[in-house]
Amino acid sequence: MQIVHHLPDLRRAVASLRGDGARVALVPTMGALHAGHMALVDAARAMGAKIVASIFVNPKQFGPNEDLSRYPRPAEADKALLIAHGCDLLWMPGVDDMYPAGFATNVSVSGVSDGLDGAARPGHFDGVATVVTKLFNQVRPDSAFFGEKDFQQLAVIRRMVADLDLGLEIVGVPTVREADGLALSSRNIYLSPDERARAVALPRTLAEAKRAIEAGEPGWHAAAMASLIQAGFVADYISLVDAATLGDSVPGQPRRLLAAARIGTTRLIDNLDIAP
Ligand code: PAF
Repeated sequence: MQIVHHLPDLRRAVASLRGDGARVALVPTMGALHAGHMALVDAARAMGAKIVASIFVNPKQFGPNEDLSRYPRPAEADKALLIAHGCDLLWMPGVDDMYPAGFATNVSVSGVSDGLDGAARPGHFDGVATVVTKLFNQVRPDSAFFGEKDFQQLAVIRRMVADLDLGLEIVGVPTVREADGLALSSRNIYLSPDERARAVALPRTLAEAKRAIEAGEPGWHAAAMASLIQAGFVADYISLVDAATLGDSVPGQPRRLLAAARIGTTRLIDNLDIAP
């Protein structure tokens, strides 16, 4: 696996990957890689593409009181995982490479970015959309792979790619979970053993709410909030939305149930599909 840190080197390396007409898939990440990220790499490899992964902890998507400074950065372990999963090229720009002095552009996707995590984390999705646009322009991939765990992020990126005619395929990959159902996340390492034991209440609450919604039971929302509170969570939201717009759900259209909740100082998100 070749590793590059500067844009001219990236351009040369991608051109060489494409030399024999190969298709290029991008797996954008912020590092602290786990089996959920590897599912993205594996899905890209299964489509026969050359794989470019990026690792960049993007300051623009962290709020002032969020975990930018303590976000885990286990670079050597990340590289070993990517090599083991057949990644061809790793793009690891520094902050000055991504945002040189004078950088002044913001990409903002209205509507789908506004509610849910967009309301709880002002500016977060502008930061994501801006860096993902840059990553797409830097690598110019044929496809890019994102986890469904960050479901709102995936919806924002799909909207942006359609609106801006970016001309690449966006592939959503199902969430990878621990044996007890907790969605894998780089932030799970912040959980104390006690918080980790209680965190399983989030996927369990979502699963019970999914059952209740699909059975037509009207009290699902209050029951879900009570179940999170009982496990010691502070719930930001648990919302049933249209799977594409993340606005009000529309009868007959795909729906998604999304939740965000804090346990101690750690904020967890998760989601499940709901039958139309
Ligand atoms: O999902 C992530 O890891 C990040 O939000 C992304 C897409 C790499 C942009 O920084």
